[in-house]
Amino acid sequence: MALSHRVERIAASATMAAGDKARRLRSQGIEVFDLGPGQPDFDTPEHIREAGIRAIREGRTRYTATAGIPELRAAVADLYSLREGVPYRAEETIITCGGKQGLHNVLMALVNPGDEVVVPSPYWVSFPEMVRLAGGEPVVVETDEADRFELRADAIAAACTERTRVIVVNTPSNPTGAVVARAEMEALAQLALERGICLLLDECYARLVYEDVPHLTPLCVGPEAKSVTVLCGSCSKTYAMTGWRVGYVAGPRHLIDPMGRMQGHTTSNACSVSQHAALAALTGDQTPVHEMRAQFAERRARLLPRLQALPGVRCVEPRGAFYFFPNVEALLGEHLPTSTDLASHLIDTAHVVTVAGSAFGRDGYLRLSYAASMEVLEEALDRLDRAFGELLDRS
Ligand SMILES: Cc1ncc(COP(=O)(O)O)c(C=O)c1O
Repeated sequence: MALSHRVERIAASATMAAGDKARRLRSQGIEVFDLGPGQPDFDTPEHIREAGIRAIREGRTRYTATAGIPELRAAVADLYSLREGVPYRAEETIITCGGKQGLHNVLMALVNPGDEVVVPSPYWVSFPEMVRLAGGEPVVVETDEADRFELRADAIAAACTERTRVIVVNTPSNPTGAVVARAEMEALAQLALERGICLLLDECYARLVYEDVPHLTPLCVGPEAKSVTVLCGSCSKTYAMTGWRVGYVAGPRHLIDPMGRMQGHTTSNACSVSQHAALAALTGDQTPVHEMRAQFAERRARLLPRLQALPGVRCVEPRGAFYFFPNVEALLGEHLPTSTDLASHLIDTAHVVTVAGSAFGRDGYLRLSYAASMEVLEEALDRLDRAFGELLDRS
């Protein structure tokens, strides 16, 4: 059976592969220290779970409107209106099956074969693949470790051509934790307005920003940026709801309406029960979000100095999300030439799961998630300390 060119171009997700390897070791009874996960280690807060249970009991188990239940769309519109100080209406939002589907559908709705989409690197694994699935060409723009991996609007502008349709802006970033600064966001908004390019904001880590760094969107320049801005959010990371699969998109109606039509022919609505849980998440008590964020902040503060002191490691301070992206080039060589080899070596010898930087477009780095208990994190760092020391001794 011949496969389509579309799927032949798609690589498997490296983050999922790391998880598979960890599961295999666990099934052999081996204790694994997993710094791979891209999901909070917390349970979904109680009141959100209760809302889901209530929805089942009340029989809210049928198809909903494709674009989502009206109350949830209104809640998303309120959230953005309040946060951005720019009015959004419920019709300018759509509820998706996780943030991933939102991003995918935006690209499917905007990109024609041969169109270019600017993707800053290191990038979240799925961006280039999603662009290719939509028939587009990802144009990768490197950010610099010496510059804390911060996105520079002039570098983005230099990469734009007449074929550029979309610029992907993931702030805070997975994997680097970099947050886009105000001056750069303003310059990006100007660029987008001047050239009629869409700024696709993936802000699924928006609530996980540390040390009073502000999370900004292009709307910081004013309501005029609304016409070139698409905001993609998710309940997954903010509310520890990865399995419920609820995301949302806010943007111009001439984009949202066809996204609804596309969703109507593919997945239909996001799970009805999950939408009711998401409504409780967005409109209910936000204390659990603050508590989870405080725990991530504490882990980050405790672990970063330890990580920076590991042999052969250099690591910039991430401003948001729940990942470190250390430089491990000093540990690579004849024995382990790439970060993929190093990640594999660490699973096999130290039983520590990490994700190779190459999955995010940058070899020579590892992504370490701190969405794990402090005990697991401390033990994992002890093991990395020993493993890295041995590698340096050997070289
Ligand atoms: C940067 C980024 N965007 C989007 C997503 C999608 O998350 P979900 O589909 O669970 O909302 C993820 C998940 O790992 C992510 O890291």
